[in-house]
Amino acid sequence: MTKKLYIKTYGCQMNVYDSERMAEALGGQGYVETQSPDDADMILLNTCHIREKAAEKVYSELGRFKGLKAEKPDLKIGVAGCVAQAEGQEIMRRQPMVDLVVGPQSYHRLPEMEAKTRVGEKALDTDFPEEDKFEHLKSRPKAKRAPSAFLTVQEGCDKFCAFCVVPYTRGAEVSRPVERILTEARDLVERGVREITLLGQNVNAYHGAGADGSDWSLAQLIWALDKVDGLERIRFTTSHPNDMSDDLIEAHGTCAKLMPYLHLPVQSGSDKILKRMNRAHTADSYLRLIERIRAVRPDILMSGDFIVGFPEETEEDFQATLDLVKEVQYGYAYSFKYSTRPGTPAAERPQVDAAAADDRLQRLQARITDDQRLIQDSMVGREVGVLFEKPGRKLGQMVGKSDYLHAVHVADCPAQVGELRRVRIVDSGANSLAGELVD
Ligand code: SAH
Ligand code: SF4
Ligand code: F3S
Repeated sequence: MTKKLYIKTYGCQMNVYDSERMAEALGGQGYVETQSPDDADMILLNTCHIREKAAEKVYSELGRFKGLKAEKPDLKIGVAGCVAQAEGQEIMRRQPMVDLVVGPQSYHRLPEMEAKTRVGEKALDTDFPEEDKFEHLKSRPKAKRAPSAFLTVQEGCDKFCAFCVVPYTRGAEVSRPVERILTEARDLVERGVREITLLGQNVNAYHGAGADGSDWSLAQLIWALDKVDGLERIRFTTSHPNDMSDDLIEAHGTCAKLMPYLHLPVQSGSDKILKRMNRAHTADSYLRLIERIRAVRPDILMSGDFIVGFPEETEEDFQATLDLVKEVQYGYAYSFKYSTRPGTPAAERPQVDAAAADDRLQRLQARITDDQRLIQDSMVGREVGVLFEKPGRKLGQMVGKSDYLHAVHVADCPAQVGELRRVRIVDSGANSLAGELVD
């Protein structure tokens, strides 16, 4: 009999990818996915530990499932992802109804763990095993896929920024071998995928084994993917400024499938704060790097991440961040108020007053929103590629993403899902652009 699986995903794109792999792995155990927790036989929360709020959400969400579990004693509840890794056993102590806790490096053991819960046992696994989990997470018969897909190529982080939990929850940097990535990419293309976003916590530090036995760079991997017929667009995220190698910069100027969009977090514009964050780059080295990237790809759309209120950040440090933002002109940027994470070096330091941090966050977000708006508006009149992903809300309308990752909708559009077409942008709305097919 088929059983129903409800997965809820928090956090970054890597969690989205992992959730897809877990659903496929549990497919082998007879599960099909459902969109409602009420008729599920198993509920799996794929969690994020990056900020305090994200971690606390898990417990409030679990609290809500208490009633369901009381009505349906056979319902299994599992916690996966970075909170599972960070808190392990503690989760079952706080919420005894949890049957299963699995860390991100142990997902290939999920089928066995699920079987254990079926005989009434608890299952916990937060190891960092040697084997490649994705090799063991084999997919079900080839289901059709949406045109845009994620593909994890690198995982973990050795950078240890002073604020960040990722090196602890995802472990040391590991790159998947080139051939496995190419096989997975070809399989995705056969199933309808036209755009692949390569994922890694530090994706540009990728150094996977190539067929010739040597380590390949991310740029080499991108050039190999460039040759996959039917694959039309390549993106990658998230990059660290210190790993933007010359060959990768060059690829932005020469690889037609590589899209003109780069997410390159800097976190702060103050060298004092960058140093205390253990970022190993300065504001100036970051700006020079962007100059070099723009020299080969002038129209590239830059995106970034910022933290305000990091310990000992002064108003002057914050001004330096505003100056940097002004200079870069981000097409997208994500800013966060510093959140103290237990076990990270910055947690021990003098904290910035919460009201001051809130105020800085508001000012930074206002500045970023203005820049985003200007850049989005500047697309009007231009011709861009759009990969159509789904029908829009209005009859006959289709929606897709531009080369620069803006959402674009076209009225009375004959293009099908999965088609990449040239579109002239005619209007810029609140969160999307309107366009017309060129041909
Ligand atoms: N590996 C990526 C992203 C890490 S998490 C990178 O190196 O850029 C995504 C973003 O969350 C970070 O870029 C950072 O801006 C933010 N972040 C991480 N830890 C945080 C913390 N303790 N408080 C607030 N924001 C944080
Ligand atoms: Fe976290 Fe820094 Fe690693 Fe990014 S580079 S995952 S912010 S430790
Ligand atoms: Fe969150 Fe883990 Fe991703 S902490 S941001 S889910 S790597």
